[in-house]
Amino acid sequence: MSILICPVCGRDLTRAERSFACDAGHSFDLSKEGYLNLLLPTQRRSRHPGDAPELCRARRAFLSAGHYAPLRSFVAARLSGEVVLDACCGEGYYTSAASERGFRTFGFDIAKDMVRLAARADKRTQYFAAGLHAIPVRTGSVDALMHLFAPPADAELSRVLRPGGTLIRVMPGERHLWELKQALYDTPYLNRETPQPCSLTPVRQERLRYDFELSGAEEILDLFRMTPYSYKTSRAGEEKLRALKRLRVTADFLVLTYCK
Ligand SMILES: C[S@@+](CC[C@H](N)C(=O)[O-])C[C@H]1O[C@@H](n2cnc3c(N)ncnc32)[C@H](O)[C@@H]1O
Ligand SMILES: [Zn+2]
Repeated sequence: MSILICPVCGRDLTRAERSFACDAGHSFDLSKEGYLNLLLPTQRRSRHPGDAPELCRARRAFLSAGHYAPLRSFVAARLSGEVVLDACCGEGYYTSAASERGFRTFGFDIAKDMVRLAARADKRTQYFAAGLHAIPVRTGSVDALMHLFAPPADAELSRVLRPGGTLIRVMPGERHLWELKQALYDTPYLNRETPQPCSLTPVRQERLRYDFELSGAEEILDLFRMTPYSYKTSRAGEEKLRALKRLRVTADFLVLTYCK
């Protein structure tokens, strides 16, 4: 049985050949890549919600180079149960680590373009476009929930988890990308490590820290474009980074585990 519910009326969605439908007759076609669009027109704040295409491309190039592969394995190793949902899954980089391990995986994001990329590459996961504040997933149906570098939504995330289920959240640690900030700013600051509010019970807080090497301006710029620093210092920052041939950067992640 699917964990998905109808975004219009909340009844269970059942899979047919190329679509999902509820008893009330609301029906949602699977795209040719295999994802569902469960985002209602009224839930979209813009015609193309989510990150800009240039940012998506930069993130994809950066992730596929493997610099965050240690985090991908680290997170997947903390999952348990049967049903895993990746909330704000982006292009499914971490979701697919769970599907490769044999979990029954689901992933959603508000950006349809990201969900399309994810569904094209990972056929074992049911991807869908949806928003974090009205997740079309049955209450208490998820064993493990992934929520990585994503906006807060405490009540909805907790609703979809079953009692005893696990939430894995990842946020940047204080030294994350320190050398990139040193290259950009005269007096860089450490990141503040303030976790999002969470009503679930904290189980563990782990730090994953390592460094990795970027070679060539394009790789360095792809990373820069993924960060908030690029909104604040786009032109000047790009120029400083373009001059660099290589950069060793610290990856510093806080991996927070909660239990419902
Ligand atoms: C920094 S990215 C992280 C993506 C992925 N978890 C990863 O770590 O690769 C944040 C993601 O949140 C998505 N997002 C932002 N607001 C959202 C919302 N209200 N509902 C669902 N997804 C949202 C964006 O489209 C984007 O893909
Ligand atoms: Zn319905």
